[in-house]
Formats: sequence, C-alpha cells, structure tokens
Amino acid sequence: MKKQKFIGIAAALILVSYVGISVASEAGNPRKGRFLFRQNCRPCHMENATGAKPAHYLGPDAKTQAEWKAVFDNHASLPCKDEWAKVSEKDLQDIFSYMHGGAKDSPTPVKCGG
Ligand code: HEC
Repeated sequence: MKKQKFIGIAAALILVSYVGISVASEAGNPRKGRFLFRQNCRPCHMENATGAKPAHYLGPDAKTQAEWKAVFDNHASLPCKDEWAKVSEKDLQDIFSYMHGGAKDSPTPVKCGG
C-alpha cells in the first residue's frame, strides 16, 4: 500500500515537470522533431535497417517550407492521417519544426535521415 502511494506521487511529479517543460517551449523543437519523425514515421517514410528505401520515401528536403505548412495544416486529409492521429499536437509541432527547418528552400536543407 505504501509503495503504491509512493509510485503515485512519483508519477504526479513526473507529470508536473513534463507539463512545465512543454509550456516552457512553445515553439517546436526540431531536434526532438527529428527523433519523433524517426520514431513515428520511419517505418513507412525512411530507410529500414537493411537500407532499403520504402515506396514513400520522405525527408524534410522533399518539400518547400510552404508545402510543409500546407501539409501540416491539412494533415487530416493525408492517406496516413490515422498515423498522425496517434501523435500528440505537441509532438506534431516538433516534427513540423524539423521538416520546415530542413525544407528544400530553407537555408539548411536536410536529406531524409539527416
Ligand atoms: C503505416 C505507414 C505510414 C506511417 C507510419 C506514416 N505514413 Fe505518411 N504516408 C503513408 C502513405 C502510404 C502515404 C501516401 C504516399 C503517396 O501518396 O505517395 C503517406 C503520405 C504522406 C505525406 C504526403 C506525401 C506527399 O508527397 O505529399 C506526408 C507529408 C506524410 N505521409 C507524412 C507522414 C508523417 C509526418 C508521419 C509520422 C507522423 C507519417 N507520414 C506516418 C504511410 C505512412
């Protein structure tokens, strides 16, 4: 019983600090976005462990900044919208920062996987 209470308090503390961090960083975090893209989108949009490219290979430099904005504004109409629905708005904001920051017309285009 005591142990359960401790775990409850620990969980609450972790939650509070997480919310605190989220509020502190309003704009998306491209480094986190890169990680999240790899985690959530990689199976269908990046090379797999054997280096084989999937049919829908996609990286930041696949689109212009304006195109990325349009994609993220209208992601409910994408073929993979169900995959996006599994990702929180906050995480999507980070992925957007990564894609937008590395778009092909950005100062620093990022190749898929870069
Ligand atoms: C289960 C596989 C799968 C996952 C996971 C997935 N997608 Fe997709 N995605 C697809 C397919 C299939 C298409 C359609 C590609 C096409 O039409 O050529 C697509 C299309 C897209 C497009 C439009 C491509 C274009 O050329 O305009 C974007 C952008 C996109 N996905 C981004 C993402 C992002 C970001 C994630 C992660 C949050 C993600 N996808 C996760 C399968 C997936």
